[in-house]
Amino acid sequence: MLMLDGMTFHLETYGCQMNVHDSMVIEGVLRRRGLRSADGLGDAQVIILNTCSIREKAEEKVFGRLGELASLKERGNLTVLGVSGCMAQRTAERVLERAPAVDFVTGTETFPTIPRLLERILAGERPIVDVSTGHPLPEPAERSLDVNGFRAFVSIMRGCDKRCAFCVVPTTRGPERSRKPDEVVAEVRALAAAGVIEVTLLGQTVNSYRDGATGFAELLRAVDAVEGIERIRFTTNHPNDMTEQVLDAVASCPKVCEHLHLPAQSGSTRVLAAMGRGYTREKYLRVIESSRAWMPHVSLTTDIIVGFPGETEEEFRDTLSLVEEVRYDGAYTFKYSPREGTPAASLPDSVPVPVMKERLARLNERVRALSDEVNRGLVGSEQGVMIEALDVDGPWAVRGRTRTNKTLLLERAPGPVGSVHRVRVSRTRGLTLYGVPVPEPVV
Ligand code: SAH
Ligand code: F3S
Repeated sequence: MLMLDGMTFHLETYGCQMNVHDSMVIEGVLRRRGLRSADGLGDAQVIILNTCSIREKAEEKVFGRLGELASLKERGNLTVLGVSGCMAQRTAERVLERAPAVDFVTGTETFPTIPRLLERILAGERPIVDVSTGHPLPEPAERSLDVNGFRAFVSIMRGCDKRCAFCVVPTTRGPERSRKPDEVVAEVRALAAAGVIEVTLLGQTVNSYRDGATGFAELLRAVDAVEGIERIRFTTNHPNDMTEQVLDAVASCPKVCEHLHLPAQSGSTRVLAAMGRGYTREKYLRVIESSRAWMPHVSLTTDIIVGFPGETEEEFRDTLSLVEEVRYDGAYTFKYSPREGTPAASLPDSVPVPVMKERLARLNERVRALSDEVNRGLVGSEQGVMIEALDVDGPWAVRGRTRTNKTLLLERAPGPVGSVHRVRVSRTRGLTLYGVPVPEPVV
């Protein structure tokens, strides 16, 4: 409709890669309806925050931001302020209560209808809440690509059925639903035709993907066959679904990168049981062993929570020893944050905040030292590197990424953004690798 034509929007994304993906879809529907990106915040007529609920801090950040934006609304250009995503889904009423400047709240399934909400608001209706569920999966009819246009996220499933005791995702994103494999492959083909060469398949537990006879292994093989795609990544995985079939597919599909993100959460079998993770420390370590048997140079990353209710010093040390044993390439570490409505929120024996902080610091110290060591072991090795940016500050101005998802800096670009080259790792600093292109063989 004409009313929306020419309006300017600004979109801010919080949280995980699924939210980044969803923001690209929102951007796509807005552009299709004639809206365009604002030059800056002050120029935006529509501002949307795509939000995250995973920890309390994530929600507090959004409330802080909404406070700032409310004053912008009083002073300037801003006509419509909207909130979408997990936090909207979880606590729409609280959002409106604490941030009365908000005009609409839309959930994790309804965001593709934002243009319709905008029309209603411009016609005088406000505030509008639509966090209804049970809709078809909100996948892109059209989407925006990232700045370079050669990488894209593809959502292959939504929701989660695992119900880990600490996690709000099953509430905010609903039950697990896999997309049709043909639809996924068609989307990847369309992306390839638009110039995309790297896709990341997304889901809360991608490796439990299933549609009839097609499991995640079969889907990987089908995506691997799409012409024009050079790299395939996927995240995140559940250790229990990392079957031999999936590992076989990851190892044998040439485009699928040898990197597994395998959230452990804890190294203590007692804590894992309390978390409802469905595996023991020993079972988790067997999955790691299997992964390395299929791919000796696989890069392994993880998520860890410290201070789950009742976690003792000894149980925390089990987590430290797990980290030592696996020797992760990297880990995302979190202090436990109680989430209303989750089973863990009513558990006794909460770990005092200073103890959590101290454990997190010790864990981070070990994680960093080990990734450092792992990376130093790569000096002298050759890596396939995709060029991502040519204008990083300083003499190492070219940034690339290895198949194992590590940042590698070069002094000079061996080719344009999006091209792939053999690079010899010359040194490392912290998590960053530095390298020199290996001369291409003359034919
Ligand atoms: N499948 C999801 C994982 C959930 S969120 C994904 O796509 O990444 C990512 C990580 O946040 C989890 O693996 C867990 O380590 C952490 N997390 C989830 N709930 C949490 C909580 N209540 N407190 C602290 N960390 C949490
Ligand atoms: Fe959350 Fe566990 Fe699912 S961490 S997203 S409930 S696998």
